Amino acid sequence: MKKTTKEYSLNDLPVFFRSQNYEELKNASLFILKKDEKNFDALNSLAVAYKNLGNTNKAIEVFTHLVNLNPKKDFIYSNAGNFFFDIGKAEQAQQCHEHAIKLNPKNWNSLNQIGVIQANKGKNEEAINYYKKALSVNPKEEAIYITMANSYRALENYSEAAKYYDFSSKKLSKCQQLECYYMLGDYENFYKKLDEFSKNSSPHPLAATLSAHAAIRFDKEDNYNFCNDTFSFIQKTNLYKVKDYNDSLVEDLLNCFNRLKISTKAQSLLTNGVQSTGNIFLVEEEPIQKLKKIIMHKIDVYKEKMASKKSDFIEHWPKNFFLYGWLIVMNEGGTLGFHMHKEGWMSGSLYLKRPKKLDKYDGDIVFSKHGSNYPTDGKFYEQRIVDINRGDMVLFPSSIFHGTVPFESNEQRITLAFDIIPIE
Ligand SMILES: [Fe+2]
Repeated sequence: MKKTTKEYSLNDLPVFFRSQNYEELKNASLFILKKDEKNFDALNSLAVAYKNLGNTNKAIEVFTHLVNLNPKKDFIYSNAGNFFFDIGKAEQAQQCHEHAIKLNPKNWNSLNQIGVIQANKGKNEEAINYYKKALSVNPKEEAIYITMANSYRALENYSEAAKYYDFSSKKLSKCQQLECYYMLGDYENFYKKLDEFSKNSSPHPLAATLSAHAAIRFDKEDNYNFCNDTFSFIQKTNLYKVKDYNDSLVEDLLNCFNRLKISTKAQSLLTNGVQSTGNIFLVEEEPIQKLKKIIMHKIDVYKEKMASKKSDFIEHWPKNFFLYGWLIVMNEGGTLGFHMHKEGWMSGSLYLKRPKKLDKYDGDIVFSKHGSNYPTDGKFYEQRIVDINRGDMVLFPSSIFHGTVPFESNEQRITLAFDIIPIE
């Protein structure tokens, strides 16, 4: 029966949650909390709703309040842990997940997430132990197979990684598995699976990266048409030409980042630098949201401009995506090895601060068709250096490898890197 006046009950919460109707989940939670302000289920639902509606500050407030009420429900700590990790608070996330496991040693999400936190610190063996425990509780959960595979991949155990990626139907997992076959030298499976993937799935940047790399290595035609003439899709603009971008915004941003004390993560390719964890754009601080708007606008302009070139990259541009950003702070001698952004569709980097050049290419960005320690058999892979000034923003397809030219100046290089991530 249709409700004439909006009245809600606790039974509505799981319904709205499952249908991802977060606006109604928020309304229902608030309705219940008016009568019963300490209702744990309603508080939990309210926090989850705020999180998914992008209202990060409210979500922090409600999750913190909820955890302080000390409920004896493990899923509440587990949800709070997921949230704190997403916003770059890894320590808080770990505490929440550990508490959840104390209350319920079979909370597989928290077991899996502690694994992810360990993996982020570069402790992949420890992470795998947690994933194994999580799988013993829930052997059907795809997310655990993916995190397990990722840790084996980070440990360069490609055969185990390939085995675990096989349990996932996600496009990224299929591509990660392809990469494992490539690294293992199992070219029969590599080309067989690449062929299957090309026929059955819409394009993916990682498949494009692998196909392009293998084509050069084996002197073959690259039949994976993600973006021909890849380097021509690299575009640089200087944000100081944009009305709202100026030194005071940059200063506000840097103050914001210092104040937030976001956790950092291990990044094996990064020397003399740190990388933030979580999505910086979830932080509801004015300078960050202002910058997000500028970047989103520039991405629209980029897409328009590139549309004249026929490519799957533009034609299959994701309908649904979100912007995911992180900081890379490098000190003297800093460098970042060649990598590509597997989870992104289009990537970018904005140079908030860059050191003075003591040598011609100091601190510039280099693009290449080779990276990630792929085997080359001595083949030549072209590179393109892009000269970087303060305020420059470079946009490019996520399939291109890129790295940083080491610099010797004692000034810091602060980059905001970002991806647009398709929602599958
Ligand atoms: Fe990058």
